[in-house]
Parts: sequence; structure tokens; C-alpha cells
Amino acid sequence: MVMAPGRRAQLGNAREPAHSLPQDFYIAADVFELDLEHVFARSWLFVAAASELPLPGDVLTWSVGRDSVLLMRDTDGSVSAHHNVCRHRGCRLRPDGPGSARVVVCPYHQWSYGLDGTLRGAPHMGAEVSRDELSLRALHLRDLGGLLFVCFAEDPPPFDEVLAAVQPQLRPHQIERTRVAARQHYTVQANWKLLVENNRECYHCRANHPEFCLSNYDVGGAGDARRSRAFDAALAAHRRRWVEQGLSPREVNFDDGGFFRIARLPLRAGYVTESLTGRLVAPVLGRVAGTDVGSLRFITLPNSWSHINADYLATTRLTPIAPDRTDVAVTFLVREDAVEGRDYDVEELTAVWQATSEQDWLLCEQSAAGVRSRGYLPGPLSPVTEGSVADFHQWYENMLPILSQRDGGDWSTGGTG
Ligand code: FES
Ligand SMILES: [Fe+2]
Repeated sequence: MVMAPGRRAQLGNAREPAHSLPQDFYIAADVFELDLEHVFARSWLFVAAASELPLPGDVLTWSVGRDSVLLMRDTDGSVSAHHNVCRHRGCRLRPDGPGSARVVVCPYHQWSYGLDGTLRGAPHMGAEVSRDELSLRALHLRDLGGLLFVCFAEDPPPFDEVLAAVQPQLRPHQIERTRVAARQHYTVQANWKLLVENNRECYHCRANHPEFCLSNYDVGGAGDARRSRAFDAALAAHRRRWVEQGLSPREVNFDDGGFFRIARLPLRAGYVTESLTGRLVAPVLGRVAGTDVGSLRFITLPNSWSHINADYLATTRLTPIAPDRTDVAVTFLVREDAVEGRDYDVEELTAVWQATSEQDWLLCEQSAAGVRSRGYLPGPLSPVTEGSVADFHQWYENMLPILSQRDGGDWSTGGTG
């Protein structure tokens, strides 16, 4: 589908800097198509923690737009990523979600593939068919300290910078040595950008997140200029101790138009994790000396945020489904040897993030309802608290030059380059 120049101009001219986006960016089918092809198909996307596929034969499938990735853990322990597309006549090999298999068998005509993606069986194909050339097509995959990212583009954007900044900060928590304690899935009736915007500010936290605000300061976020003496003092004191423990405190906030934020934040006095009581809700992760590790925040555009606490991490993955619908997977991971009932209680473990997530989804749905109405006009972002929403819009604009009219030729929603 090629977007007409008049439509491009209409969309590009409608955008006002430091405002929420024009209505069509949250509701229009053609913009949603552009988002899938020019944002999601060209970015590094968070799929899952590597520990969600702990054993040889574990597989995990995830679809975004017209693409789908099949992750497989092979017998040698390595994880691969391939297009979830049969090399015979293109059938999807597996439905979305986790599973396990010795070989992956296509449901259509029963071609089978090994855990490394090679074609193993292709009945009734004759001797002429060159099986070596019919392996599953590999996708770009990166393991970032135990978190797996894929890119559907042939030439993915650089990954070195995020690796250098984030890997050393994740490593002490040994995310590769965790296991899934709980998985929550949501379908949110809102455009994916409303969910990202919601995540990018804590302007709304005090009024909406009582559980979150027990352990967290609502300042200290990226693009938030509010000052709090208590937060500054806590950050300075904790940072000294983090450095002594070898926990790198380097903060990166979408620097130079980048796609990620990493920051280690202090929790409030009396809280060693994001729990309702302040006490740990699971055994301490990794090889850190104590519980004074604060809460490590790792956010990647366009589709993930993770909180890594002393005792558990919660990952959030967005999947755009329709202009007005986004699937969300929230996964709670604990130390690999932790036993439910003995070492943790799922309700206690998930209490803060379940409450906070669900409060956010409700806000996003209410926001989506207002944004789609005839009464909506883009409104001004707070220069004090919403700098990170503006940064997200800038990143989005760079992915989608239609917003700044930098495109010369036809804008096609096809082709993923
Ligand atoms: S399409 Fe997969 S075996 Fe035919
Ligand atoms: Fe929120």
C-alpha cells in the first residue's frame, strides 16, 4: 500500500512539537501499518528472557504484524531465532507461546525441522529437492544479559551501544539463572503508543499507583525535572554503596536519540524490593553481596520495560495487534532454584506489578477512549514531567520521517528493509 502524498502531508503537518500526537497516530489503520513496517519491523524487539526456554527442545513463538519468530533451544544449549515459516509452502509452524519439541513439524504436510532450523524430513519430495537449502530462515538475535532481542529487518540497527551500557549492569543479577514464576497476559484496548507514553512518565503515579508508590519515589525518571531532596540524598548514598559492590551505576536515557534507558534507582527507606511490605518476596538473585541493589530499570523502544529487583524481575512486552489494541505479556522471574510455597508466594511476588500494570491499562483504555472521540485535540506535554514522552515522540519521528516531511519518494507500507 502506497500512501498518497496528500495524506502524507496531512499527517506530517498535523504534528505539533511537545504535544500529544494527532488523533490519526492513535487510531488510523494506515498509520498502524506504517508503525508495523517502519517501526516494529526495523527495531530490536524484546521477545523473552532466555530462561523462559531453560531446556533443550524448549521453543517459544511470538508474532508481530505479519512476521513471527520461532526461538528454539538446541541440545548444545544455544538458542536460535528463525522465521516461523515453513520452507515448503509457507505455513506457520507453531502458534504463539511457549512449548517444547524434539523436532518442529509443520502441521500442513509434515515437513520437520531440527532444533537448529535444518530440514530433517520432507516426505514424498523426491531426490531432486536439495534439503540443505531448505533450512528455516534465520533472524537476527541478541542475548543481552539473559534478555533476548530479535530484529526482523535484514540490516538491523546497531546493538553494540546497548550491549556495552546494559550488559555489565544486568550481569550481577544473573538473569540467565532464573525461572518463570508467573505469566500475565492482557489485551489492552489502546494503541501501543499510548502504552509507551504512559510508561514514559510518572506524572500520573502519585494519583494512580498507591502500591508502586510505597517502594518507589515518583521522581528520578528520565525527562522528569522535579527535584526531591529525599530522592537526591538516597540516590547519592546508594550509588556510593553500589559502586563499592561493583554495580555499575551508569545511567543512559535514550541518549543521542537512542532506543533504550538503563538506570539503577533507589527504593524508599525500609524497602529492599518492590513489594507491599518492603521485605523480600523471593531469594536474592545472582551474585550480589546483599539486598542494597535498588531497582534497575531497563526500557527499550518500541516494546519493553523491565524492573530488576534484588529478588525478582518483571518484564513487560508489548505486541501491537490493531490500531486500538495491544497485547501485553508481563513475566515474573525468580532464582532458578526457588520453590513456590517455600521460597515465594505468587500473590506476594506479583502484588505490586500486577496492581500497577492493571491500573496503567485502565488509564490507557480511558485515554484511548478520549483520544478517539470527536472532542480530542493534541494537548501540551509538561516540560517538567513529560520530557521522556517527548523523547519517545522524537525517536518515533526518526523511525517514521513522515512526521517531519523528510521523505521524498512514495511511502510504502510494504517491504521491511
Ligand atoms: S507448508 Fe509446511 S509442509 Fe507444506
Ligand atoms: Fe503507570
